[in-house]
Amino acid sequence: MSHPAYPAPTRLIHWVMALFLIATIVAGFLMVQEGLARALQDRLFIFHKNIGVALLLLAMIRLAYRLRYPAPPLPSHMPSWQKRAAKLSHVGLYILIFLMPIAGYIRVRAGGFPIESLDALGAPSLVPRSDALAAAAKSVHSYGAIALAALIAVHVAAAIHHAAKRDGVFARIWPPLGRSRS
Ligand code: HEM
Repeated sequence: MSHPAYPAPTRLIHWVMALFLIATIVAGFLMVQEGLARALQDRLFIFHKNIGVALLLLAMIRLAYRLRYPAPPLPSHMPSWQKRAAKLSHVGLYILIFLMPIAGYIRVRAGGFPIESLDALGAPSLVPRSDALAAAAKSVHSYGAIALAALIAVHVAAAIHHAAKRDGVFARIWPPLGRSRS
């Protein structure tokens, strides 16, 4: 049986972002650990900052697609509390995938640090140098990281539940390319 699915570009961006987000979060939590070798820490920071900027671009493309092509309807047999919970968690994920790179950007630029990819393109800093601003952005970024990691865990658990039940919910976003099947 076939189910209504997201358009292929939305599915592809979803899975690319999923990979990038996991890599960014793992690198983020690792790089702030004490006692890490300096060379490894530098590499992780460079990787984290630049993939984080790429995530902001992907989030913008994704939101544009989402506004242009609304989500396909959820199966009618799904309880309404689950539909509401899904909607709420998706809104939370959207907020955090914008908030996190923006807070990271402000933390780094206000702190006077480089963002290698943007510097190579000659992009000027969009925020003034300010230790207070950098510290505020750092707090937002740290708490946001915990909220995002928790929300992703709930999202993945729900996805696994629906994939195991084969109720047509997971098939809305899978496979990343080609036609969707149940
Ligand atoms: C969706 C994108 C992003 C995610 C999910 C993310 C996630 C994280 C995580 C999990 C941490 C560790 C938090 C902690 O334990 O304190 C972290 C730290 C950090 N992130 Fe990000 N990040 C993202 C984007 C960015 C961007 C775009 C930049 C800068 C261009 C950035 C710069 C930093 C910096 C500098 C730290 C270390 C904070 C500090 O202690 O000063 N992040 N990030």
